[in-house]
Order: sequence, then C-alpha cells, then structure tokens
Amino acid sequence: MSRRKPRLTLEGHELRPESLMMSHGYDPRLSEGAIKCPIFQTSTFVFESAEAGKAFFEVAYGLREKRPAEEMGLIYSRLNNPDLEVLEDRLCLWDGAEACATFASGMAAITTALLAVVRPGDVVVYSEPLYGGSEYFLRHYLPQLGVDAVHFPAGVPFAEVRGDLVRRIGGRPVAAMLLETPANPTNAMVDIRAVADFAHTLVHGHGARRPVVMVDNTFLGPLWQQPLRHGADLVLYSATKFIGGHSDVIAGAALGSAEALAPVRTLRTFLGTMLGPWSGWLLLRSLETLKMRMTAQMKNARYVADFLRDHPKVAAVHYLGHLDPAHPMREVFDRQCLSPGSLIAFEVHGGEPAAFRLLNALRLVHLAVSLGGTESLAEHPATMTHADIAPADQARMGISAGMVRMSVGVEHFEDLIADLRQALEQA
Ligand SMILES: Cc1ncc(COP(=O)(O)O)c(C=O)c1O
Repeated sequence: MSRRKPRLTLEGHELRPESLMMSHGYDPRLSEGAIKCPIFQTSTFVFESAEAGKAFFEVAYGLREKRPAEEMGLIYSRLNNPDLEVLEDRLCLWDGAEACATFASGMAAITTALLAVVRPGDVVVYSEPLYGGSEYFLRHYLPQLGVDAVHFPAGVPFAEVRGDLVRRIGGRPVAAMLLETPANPTNAMVDIRAVADFAHTLVHGHGARRPVVMVDNTFLGPLWQQPLRHGADLVLYSATKFIGGHSDVIAGAALGSAEALAPVRTLRTFLGTMLGPWSGWLLLRSLETLKMRMTAQMKNARYVADFLRDHPKVAAVHYLGHLDPAHPMREVFDRQCLSPGSLIAFEVHGGEPAAFRLLNALRLVHLAVSLGGTESLAEHPATMTHADIAPADQARMGISAGMVRMSVGVEHFEDLIADLRQALEQA
C-alpha cells in the first residue's frame, strides 16, 4: 500500500537482502525514532480528514487509479497494517518480487491464491506429492465448486508427462498449476521453467486467461530457490517454516508481480485471511537471522545426510545434495536451486515398526511434524503428515512405511549424528 520505501542503494553497489533485513521499508521518524518497527496492535487508523478518508477508499476499492505521487494511507488492519507492510516489503527482496501479501497460515495463502483464480468448469493442475493440506483442498474441496484437480508426478522430466497431462485436461480451461518443488516429503523436483512454458501454450485456447503458475517454495525458499526467476507467476509459503524459523508462529505469504498478486490481495481482504500484527512483528525479527539460520541448517544437513547414507540400517536417503550427475533431475536442480537445503527423507529397513522404534528413541531430535525451525524435527509421513493419502497412492508417490522425514536444525552436527546413531541402533 502506501508506505513502500525504495530500496537503499550505495552508488554502484547493490545491497543484498540480508543487509537490508534490519531496515528496509521502515522509517524510524514515523515511530518516535524507535530503531525497531513497533507492533501496531490496532484494528483501525485515524484519518487526518474526511477528504483523506474518501481518497483512501477510492483507491482501495478500485474506484479510481492512484494519482502520481499520491500517498495511500492506512485504513483498517484487514486491508493492511504497518507491520505487515514492512514485512511484505522485506520478503519481496528475497524473491525478487514486486508485491507480497502475508497470511494467517501457509494454507491461508495457498487456498486464497487458488480461490482467487478458479471458476466453475476450470481445472487446477498440480504436481504430486503435495503437502497433505493442499492436496486435500484440491481433491475434496475444489470439486464442490465445480473445479477438477488433475495431477502429474514430480521427479520425472516434464516432457515425459506432458502428453498424458494434456489428454487428462481434455481441453478444459486450466486456472492454475500448483507446483511443490522440492516436494514434501520425498524431495522430488519439478522443472518450473518447463511447466511455465507449457502454461504459456494454453493461453490461446482459453482466451485472455492462462494458467497462473504457483510454486509452493516452503522447502527451499526464500534463500535457496526463487521460482519467480524461473517463470512462476506466484510464490507461496508456509512462513511457519524457515521464514518464521523458531517453531513459534503460524503464517503464510504469497509473492509475485503486482498484477498477479492483485486478485489474491483483494480476496484476502474479503476472506480476512491476513496475518495479524503480532505474528508479523515476530516474522520481522526472524527475517534478520534468516540467512544465518538457513545456512547453518544447510551445512548441518550435508553431514547428517552423508552419515545416513553410510548407515547399514538405512535403505535409502532422499537428499538433493546426493542427486547423481546422471539423474534426470540433477540438471533441473543445478539450474533452479542454489543449495540442497536441510530437508532429508530417509527409509529404514524394517518398515513402520523400525521407523517407529527409531523415532521413539530420538533424544535430541524432536518427534514432531513441521520443519524449518532452529530445532531438528523428525516425523513419519505415512502415518502423520500424509496419513490421509491411501496406501496405494502413497506407494505411487514414493512414501514408504519405513520413511522418516527430518528437518535439520542449527544444533552441532556431531550431536545430531550421535543422536541418530544411538536411535538407529534401536531401530
Ligand atoms: C510444503 C508445505 N506447504 C504448506 C504447508 C501449510 O502451511 P501452514 O501449516 O503454515 O498452514 C506446509 C505445512 O507443513 C508445508 O509443509
């Protein structure tokens, strides 16, 4: 809205996002000189005059375009709030986005973005596997609105699945293509550029509308993958994960061009799915250490993944840093990702009983769902995060009974390995 501040530049030297996380978008002069953005715990904002209030509403409700150099003021915290505006400005820096809207949860961001673009009779295409909540919404809720969901598998070159996908779309209008890459929990990848190119081919058949390519970037973003740079229209986050980073807040975000984000932001206003100022303030604090945390987690994960790969009780490790140069997804990884991140799925010999013995024996690593926090977490996708997927479908997606998903935190890697070693002995 109004108070977007230009990015600070030093002649000829472009400042990186991590250098701007403590200041960008915030002017201390507007808050008694406070170095930190205060929490604007307020539902509404006082207008300087009736004329000013009228002008704000004209712009907010789209009754007229903003005049050149016109300052849009704050109206009401369901539309926006200073904590969210500063947070949204800062998130834009990481993804190279023009606009951002923050939400009460990752699911609020994903569902609001989808609802903003679907119409009865449309199809939504999605990559499989997806986070269980997103999958449920697509398969069980959207059909009630007359919207069909059609999936294709992650982890294989898009050219191999494209023909079958076209057949199953059957000429119907595609409103959105929702990708999760790397996918939860298997780390299977999708080539964002290939899907975006495909989405552009669908434009002619369906008039002015073309599919909005949305990428759930929760697993690697915003540091290690920036989907807008690879052809995506919208990036979606569970900011509960790495962005929040301390397992103490539920939040979400959507980013893209101002044009792509506009309908999503408008629907957020009507559904009231926006983030609250207190959670927004917590995320501002988290963003200051985002790079340090994600870098430490990424480094730790490499040691942990290597240890797991060499352990006799471990049948397979699904870690992006282990992708073989001959693997078809290796080229996509090299082009699309800046690091393998810190999510590891591994399969133990002995199925669910062995996986449960391992999980129950962990002492430093916590047995809990979620990911991206400072503490390491481990869970059992088949019976926990992905429990509502039928066993046959789980098998198709590569989710086995012996699979454990681990989110590596910032602890000392030797301590994590010591914990895994003693737990694997009991598996
Ligand atoms: C990849 C992914 N997307 C979305 C979500 C949903 O986010 P939230 O729990 O913040 O609603 C999750 C949660 O685990 C997730 O892992």
